[in-house]
Amino acid sequence: MSRTSDVLVIGGGIIGLVTAWRAAQRGLRTAVVDPEPGGGAARVAAGMLAAVTELHYGEETLLGLNLSSARRYPAFVAELQEATGQDVGYRACGTLAVALDADDRAHLRELHALQTRCGLESEWLNGRECRRLEPMLAPGVRGGLRVDGDHQVDPRRLAAALVTACERAGVIFHRGVADRLTVVRGRAAGVVFADGREEAADQVVLAAGSLSGRLGGVPEDVLPPVRPVKGQVLRLTVPPAYAPFLSRTVRAVVRGSQVYLVPRENGELVVGATSEELGWDTTVTAGGVYELLRDAHELVPGITELPLTETRAGLRPASPDNAPLLGPTGLPGLHLATGHYRNGVLLTPVTGDVLADLLVTGVLPEEARPFAPRRFSPAHVRQEQPA
Ligand code: GLY
Repeated sequence: MSRTSDVLVIGGGIIGLVTAWRAAQRGLRTAVVDPEPGGGAARVAAGMLAAVTELHYGEETLLGLNLSSARRYPAFVAELQEATGQDVGYRACGTLAVALDADDRAHLRELHALQTRCGLESEWLNGRECRRLEPMLAPGVRGGLRVDGDHQVDPRRLAAALVTACERAGVIFHRGVADRLTVVRGRAAGVVFADGREEAADQVVLAAGSLSGRLGGVPEDVLPPVRPVKGQVLRLTVPPAYAPFLSRTVRAVVRGSQVYLVPRENGELVVGATSEELGWDTTVTAGGVYELLRDAHELVPGITELPLTETRAGLRPASPDNAPLLGPTGLPGLHLATGHYRNGVLLTPVTGDVLADLLVTGVLPEEARPFAPRRFSPAHVRQEQPA
């Protein structure tokens, strides 16, 4: 086994790629292990940067990290586009979250109160004002929240640009499946591939999305507690004659389920997403497609005219508290960048920055410390339990 890298990143989705890119920029010899770099959950994601509209009770700490990453987005995109010459479809279009009935309206009012308490910008609009902004909305829309700071990016283009940026920064790609972590004298030392090849490194970052909890060789007490949460997503196309169909992301909670419509500048309209705890299943089901189309149609009846161009399902890597796991583990040399759940695309810039700082200095930056994996370690959990 040859020591070829300072850093070996297991997982070539957007989180692994951004970590590798930032590490290589800081002068570390970096390699990424993935059979298909640029794939993963980003291939399915809609790319909403929804720190404000996806705020939930009890997630105020996560909100701080989400906002920090959202603030980094314009400079991050500019740097990535400059480094690669590739457009990543960043669109500062804002979001409108609407209510279709009295229950939805009450839910949105609660969300608005929470946003206001957290000092976030969000404006309540009545139904007529919503339709003035987005004329394709159903006449029955009862009101909504205008959030001008929640934007979008195209995750597939983002992933492709990150692959190019990594290549240009000198990152080596090992196109294979990581089977097992190598541990030598109590320290992470590299990886063994499914075909028996081995790669060594001084530091290893496990960034394999929902698969992160399945890597062989990782001691039980540091294995990340991530689970897959299935999301089915549709892609429609807005023909030029229908444009502008929607000018911003439009979303709602319909009968308790999230539905969102994300319009891209190139005419793609992403409709998502189901949220299903079904293990590793990635089947696109008739029921999933039906529910998304039914709910989206209630919001924007005109979608039935549009060509349906793609149906796909992916797996969000969820952690027990819905927040990511960022930083060192109890096994020296092994770090985590996983568990980003519903916010992987949003959290890409901040993840790259804090992981690169950690890899270079050995210290996790202050803002990432609440997300250190240690919070789930068995010893820490025992300590925190009331006597
Ligand atoms: N953040 C959108 C989703 O996970 O569906």
